[in-house]
Amino acid sequence: LANTLGLTPPMGWNSWNHFNCNVNETIIKDAADGLVSSGLAQLGYTYVNIDDCWAEKVRDKNGNLVARNTTFPSGIKALADYVHSRGLKLGIYSSAGFFTCSNTMPGSLGYEEQDAKTFASWGIDYLKYDNCYNDGTNPTARYPAMTRALMKAGRPIYYSLCEWGDMHPATWGFRVGNSWRTTGDISDNFDTMMNRADMNNMYADYARPGGWNDPDMLEVGNGGMTKDQYIIHFSLWAMVKSPLLLGCDLTNLTQETLEIIGNKEVIAINQDPLGVQAKKVREDAEIWAGPLSGYRFVALLVNRGTWSTNITAHLEDIGIPPKTKVQVRDLWEHKTLEETATMNLTASLGAYGSKMYLLTPLKEQSS
Ligand code: GLA
Repeated sequence: LANTLGLTPPMGWNSWNHFNCNVNETIIKDAADGLVSSGLAQLGYTYVNIDDCWAEKVRDKNGNLVARNTTFPSGIKALADYVHSRGLKLGIYSSAGFFTCSNTMPGSLGYEEQDAKTFASWGIDYLKYDNCYNDGTNPTARYPAMTRALMKAGRPIYYSLCEWGDMHPATWGFRVGNSWRTTGDISDNFDTMMNRADMNNMYADYARPGGWNDPDMLEVGNGGMTKDQYIIHFSLWAMVKSPLLLGCDLTNLTQETLEIIGNKEVIAINQDPLGVQAKKVREDAEIWAGPLSGYRFVALLVNRGTWSTNITAHLEDIGIPPKTKVQVRDLWEHKTLEETATMNLTASLGAYGSKMYLLTPLKEQSS
């Protein structure tokens, strides 16, 4: 969407994956504080997004959404002020239906303009817009109604479509929002995570600055996968230019989690200005790859199984002309390999092992 937002994928945190409906204003403030104190805010994680369950089930007598009194007693405006005072941005959630997915609060169908104005008046910076309890009409009509409302609301608000991919939002979403879900919900296990990555991959050609495919939020740090599996998760989400929305408890970050989500070199791949989504380029010995700015490339060699295996990537698999001399940097070891590759890159990978390389073609030596 041409609203100047999302020129690189948004980065931040969302309450859903860890807290589900058990969210309140303390949790949101703690998340904001956690982003700052952990150093993650400095690395670019700036959105603090409230997901479902923040409002009273009934609108007020003027039809306005109201923050839930038991859990958000200070109101959303005060929360936005707090989050902004920490140098961060506040996101909120609604649905293009009569109720949101939890069925505990109203959706915005028919109230698009009123709700967009409310969000803007509170100082909201990001809207995730779900698809539950809708009236059966086409999302290609219901989602643009909120686009128009947001554009009139008088505040730049990043617009995230949560339609789950059923009506192929990648093919129409760039006119409507800044990103669109391509899949059903992620859960904190390796198979579901890889399935979301595979589904999202089908739409790779549709991603661009201002409009990203969204395979759902990160599970790193929630405990359901091993460190190696979370490294694959984070590497893939970064290189396919997914929004990087953390979904763990930021008040309880382990060193291991911080090492993964705080990997600057991998974050830089996600935020690369070229904005091209990496693709799965080989299925059997699995390789994902894509171009970056400055004639550079990123490649991920992945072992999805419990066996050990050698994976060899040919430069052509990655999109680099054969016989090009490239400098190879391992983005998890933080090491530039001694050897420059002219032909192949081979990695021997144990169970759920992966290697993520940044490839920079070397300039010709003039003789
Ligand atoms: C849907 C969305 C999730 C989350 C929940 C909240 O399932 O896809 O990401 O927002 O609703 O109820």
